[in-house]
Amino acid sequence: MDVPLADSLRGRDLLSLADLTTDEFHALLDTSLTLKQGWREGVRPRLLEHTTIAMIFEKQSLRTRSTFDIAMYQLGGHSVLLSQNYIGWGVRETIRDVAHNLERWVDGIMARTYGHATLTELAEHADVPVINGLSDLLHPCQLLADYLTLKETFGRLDGLTVAFVGDGNNVCNSHVNAAMHAGARLRIACPEGFDPDAEVLAAARARGAEVEVLRDPREAAQGADVLYTDVWISMGHEEEAERRRRTFAGYTVTPEWFADLSPQGIFMHDLPAHYGEECSEDAVYHERSVVFDQAENRLHAQKGVLVQLLAPQLLAPQLLASRGTT
Ligand code: CP
Ligand code: NVA
Repeated sequence: MDVPLADSLRGRDLLSLADLTTDEFHALLDTSLTLKQGWREGVRPRLLEHTTIAMIFEKQSLRTRSTFDIAMYQLGGHSVLLSQNYIGWGVRETIRDVAHNLERWVDGIMARTYGHATLTELAEHADVPVINGLSDLLHPCQLLADYLTLKETFGRLDGLTVAFVGDGNNVCNSHVNAAMHAGARLRIACPEGFDPDAEVLAAARARGAEVEVLRDPREAAQGADVLYTDVWISMGHEEEAERRRRTFAGYTVTPEWFADLSPQGIFMHDLPAHYGEECSEDAVYHERSVVFDQAENRLHAQKGVLVQLLAPQLLAPQLLASRGTT
């Protein structure tokens, strides 16, 4: 089995896809695909044996929590779940102190936080890799799984047209970074005042990203290969729910929109979905939806990230060829 080695990723944080080179982005996808294929064929190397991560959650999660945990188990490692209720960071003790404890026990930390600054503070103090499991600014692991899904679906990434319609939030910002690396054309449609982060956008455009920001979601969907949406009311924005529901009127994706896509066009959503808001339930369960493939690929994408950042030995061909005992 031939796998890409990205020695440069070892021991690094993954807070943003913008911190990666384009080669590193593709190495993560290719590693994930190789591990996925291997797992299906019964090639199950215990690349993270005796390796432990801490998982810190300030917010709820189904997919991120489950898939990091399962990925660690399937790679022969272990994860420790820490919710804010357990550790009370920033209240019971400082983030710096939490970092200097955890780094003595674990090989990496995955954290889901409200403020992105909490993550950067954690990463600054912890001398083990810190992985962004979603912040209010970015959701890089989601987009790795999504581009893995696109690669499987289309057999290529370069030149795809991706339409993101809805809130210019964490998922949207990571779309900007992923499209930049993938060579995809990104059309974002959002109401005024809900644009993607200006700094993320400017930095990606400076690196050659082709990103348009429109106000008409149906225009964004015209001829697109991918129609992607996310909730209008992200975790932490609940108090703005009513205002947001009014502002995003007209952004509810239904199967009727799919006729406007390219002939091979697909529908994507990172989940959870708020049916009747950003999309209808029949859009998610439509034959053009790959939503549950995305969810499945969260597991394989986490494996790629964990192995590249944490594995003591990267994917030597002989390790992949050996049949593990999991
Ligand atoms: N898409 C995603 O990150 O799901 P969770 O919030 O359930 O982890
Ligand atoms: N934008 C959503 C993504 C959930 C995975 C949120 O932040 O709640």
